[in-house]
Amino acid sequence: MPEIITQTDRLTLRVPTMDDVDVLAGYWADPETMKYIGHSGEAWTREVVEQRIAQAIERQRISGFCFWVVERRDTGTVIGQGGLVPVANKGPEIELGYRLGRDHWGHGYATEIARASAAYGFQSLGLDRLIAVTYPENIGSRRVLVNAGFDEMGLTDRYYDITCMLYELTKERWATL
Ligand SMILES: CC(C)(COP(=O)(O)OP(=O)(O)OC[C@H]1O[C@@H](n2cnc3c(N)ncnc32)[C@H](O)[C@@H]1OP(=O)(O)O)[C@@H](O)C(=O)NCCC(=O)NCCS
Repeated sequence: MPEIITQTDRLTLRVPTMDDVDVLAGYWADPETMKYIGHSGEAWTREVVEQRIAQAIERQRISGFCFWVVERRDTGTVIGQGGLVPVANKGPEIELGYRLGRDHWGHGYATEIARASAAYGFQSLGLDRLIAVTYPENIGSRRVLVNAGFDEMGLTDRYYDITCMLYELTKERWATL
């Protein structure tokens, strides 16, 4: 059984396994879903998804966190991924992210994932600050971050090859939510 990281009312966030590649490769092959991911906004091939899942498993082993797999608790359906990663694979800041298969949009899941990942980061990993970045035009993702308590910090081109909107959530601010 894959290791469970945390649970919400409706969702389980757990460590990925290579058995997740099939369903995730289906989700991340959708250009609409990937429009605001990475600097190219291109859909991913199965090979890329395999690499990313292998990398996530290794990152979890080394640092205790990664871009986890998200399942519905009632059905066990894998709906996407979310969690914590060193920004741009380098850090030192830790970035919160989430991404759902298109059939699972519009149910409040991303907000639930963001809140649960942030709580895990502050409570269990002892982090002091999280950041998140979005394409400025990714209105849905920006709403998710605000709903999860993040503050909007303005545009930045510091982390990726594109200009992103930067968000921040400190442990102090999170403790007041
Ligand atoms: C963006 C994404 C994560 C939103 O997930 P979701 O589970 O549908 O989001 P939620 O249901 O928690 O919605 C949160 C808020 O965003 C709004 N929202 C969601 N998608 C939206 C969209 N496409 N346009 C405008 N608003 C949107 C919701 O109405 C809700 O608003 P509210 O706070 O006023 O109620 C999902 O569409 C997705 O995975 N997209 C592709 C990948 C991606 O862009 N990931 C984020 C990269 S930074």
